[in-house]
Amino acid sequence: MTSSPCVAITGASGSLGQALLRRWHRRGARLIALSCGPRNLDLRDAGGQPIPLRDVTWCVGQEEELSELLREVDVLVLNHGLNVHGQRSGEASVRSLEVNALSGWRLLELFAAEVAQRAEQPGRPQAEVWVNTSEAEIQPALSPLYEISKRLLGQLVSLRALDLAGPQLRIRRLVLGPFRSALNPVGVMSADFVAGQVMGQAGLGFNLIIVTPNPFTYALMPLATLSRWLYYKVLTRT
Ligand SMILES: NC(=O)c1ccc[n+]([C@@H]2O[C@H](COP(=O)([O-])OP(=O)(O)OC[C@H]3O[C@@H](n4cnc5c(N)ncnc54)[C@H](OP(=O)(O)O)[C@@H]3O)[C@@H](O)[C@H]2O)c1
Repeated sequence: MTSSPCVAITGASGSLGQALLRRWHRRGARLIALSCGPRNLDLRDAGGQPIPLRDVTWCVGQEEELSELLREVDVLVLNHGLNVHGQRSGEASVRSLEVNALSGWRLLELFAAEVAQRAEQPGRPQAEVWVNTSEAEIQPALSPLYEISKRLLGQLVSLRALDLAGPQLRIRRLVLGPFRSALNPVGVMSADFVAGQVMGQAGLGFNLIIVTPNPFTYALMPLATLSRWLYYKVLTRT
């Protein structure tokens, strides 16, 4: 019998973080809400009942401190992110790269290393990482530093997946269009709709999960990931 998965989500207090936590709760998952500040997330289900979850505080740059916790995690959703919009200072550049790209990549490496050491446990689901990059990976998002940092994350995931993805670890990429949140108050979709689509596509077995009203993304993103895979595979070694 498969046990209920333990799901940890970064950026848990944000719009999509909360929507995904609710969706996973409906599937019976044990939840860990990873937030960059001390939080007491008061999440409720459709009936108004509190959703049980564990609040954990972490800081960008201190990913190693999550090593112990990651041992119990089956699905790690890397969802945190920020948008510095029109800024282009050195400080804004560092913040965008650290938060949107490097911390996610470090967590991916940390989780993959932990999963590689796991002894086989009957009934435990395959470990998964979901990386929320955004369609800014390949489309303009009217925010150069957001685009640069999300592209870097997407490219690092493509490169490192060549070694890290396998029977023990599944890597899924979330490529999302604009939805309403603090990060994007004018997004056309709701976070709940996006979370529902993400869970649906994951249930269908997709590793490249695309949710956007922009038809070009559905055509361009598979091409981009395929051409990167080929390019990185030919030019790099394990
Ligand atoms: N909204 C859109 O249109 C859109 C489109 C495509 C992709 N995305 C991506 O979707 C993800 C979720 O975004 P959202 O729209 O739900 O935005 P959101 O409501 O602003 O949530 C983002 C969360 O990221 C965490 N975060 C922010 N700054 C951080 C920092 N310095 N260090 C660590 N964590 C930090 C915060 O959660 P905690 O305080 O809980 O850590 C924040 O609530 C992001 O990666 C975003 O890039 C958004």
